[in-house]
Amino acid sequence: MFRSCAAKVLSPARGFSTTTQQLNKVAVLGAAGGIGQPLSLLLKTSPLISRLSLFDIVNTPGVAADLSHIETPAHVTGHQGPEQLNEALEGCDVVLIPAGVPRKPGMTRDDLFNTNAGIVKNLCEAAAKTCPNAVIGIITNPVNSTVPIACEVYKAAGVYDWRKIIGVTTLDIVRSNTFVAEKKGLDVTSVNVPVIGGHSGITIIPLLSQATPAVSFDDEVLEKLTDRIQNAGTEVVNAKAGAGSATLSMAYAASRFCNSLLEAMNGKEGVVECAFVQSDLTEAAYFASPVLLGKNGVEKNLGFGSLSDYEKQLVAKAMPELVGNIKKGEAFAAS
Ligand SMILES: NC(=O)c1ccc[n+]([C@@H]2O[C@H](COP(=O)([O-])OP(=O)(O)OC[C@H]3O[C@@H](n4cnc5c(N)ncnc54)[C@H](O)[C@@H]3O)[C@@H](O)[C@H]2O)c1
Repeated sequence: MFRSCAAKVLSPARGFSTTTQQLNKVAVLGAAGGIGQPLSLLLKTSPLISRLSLFDIVNTPGVAADLSHIETPAHVTGHQGPEQLNEALEGCDVVLIPAGVPRKPGMTRDDLFNTNAGIVKNLCEAAAKTCPNAVIGIITNPVNSTVPIACEVYKAAGVYDWRKIIGVTTLDIVRSNTFVAEKKGLDVTSVNVPVIGGHSGITIIPLLSQATPAVSFDDEVLEKLTDRIQNAGTEVVNAKAGAGSATLSMAYAASRFCNSLLEAMNGKEGVVECAFVQSDLTEAAYFASPVLLGKNGVEKNLGFGSLSDYEKQLVAKAMPELVGNIKKGEAFAAS
């Protein structure tokens, strides 16, 4: 269920599924960046997308020209600079936002707040005006704060629908699946680990007790694995040594999320992904959990089921930081 579509995007050879569903327009804001470029490439190969609109403040014409030569149906357009933002957003069904600065070694995601909060606010103001019914997937960090900012912008514009503003946490699930499969010698394509909470450090809570297939670890291994999942982004930041954070795995994760969303928007039933959304599951006003996707974005929050004692402790430990991150985003939007 969690990986409902990724494997079906490409059929053998260069051909595409002949069961192509309805067509949709998707925009990528920040399309010339480290995530934006490979994400746009993956989306260009999706048979679910008819129009791919690429926006950035620099280099969009080149990225768009390059991608437009690929022999797939999606029609690519490039839009550069604030004066072309509205045309990029016109008629969009889905808007993905990876615009903003990434981490360097030694930085937390919260350190990105001062730069990225304003970028997300401006982009969401434009989206709320030009394509108020589009589903927004927010990738820009700190996701724990940028999603509340986006929601406040939509409330102020009078077009807020909690089902349509979604923080993309799919990379946490992708990483968990990979690490569990490696540890247990499993076929990674059969592994699913729900990840709840938020999207930074201790707020990332993998539910290894709910992994499928069922797996068990002794306490020490469980703690080490949890810590690795929570700090996997930092593993990449350190390995890149100043050249940015996860881009390729993030592009994969966002494209998996987008394809799941489009399948659900086009009527496929039972499509589930974990995502960071407005929530009443805990005291945090926003919380990541498995959600059922549908025509309007999130159809239903599925909750997180019963937790092990260890996972309950992780949730309790995460709560002050998560609530603080959310309040910081809300306060910024109000200021
Ligand atoms: N959600 C996740 O799991 C996850 C994972 C990895 C990275 N991220 C975040 O994604 C963001 C992007 O990372 P990256 O590695 O692609 O960074 P990058 O610097 O390589 O690319 C960012 C792009 O955003 C563009 N940009 C800046 N301001 C803009 C604006 N106002 N409008 C449109 N575009 C604008 C830049 O020109 C650049 O092309 C960062 O905030 C990073 O922390 C999130």
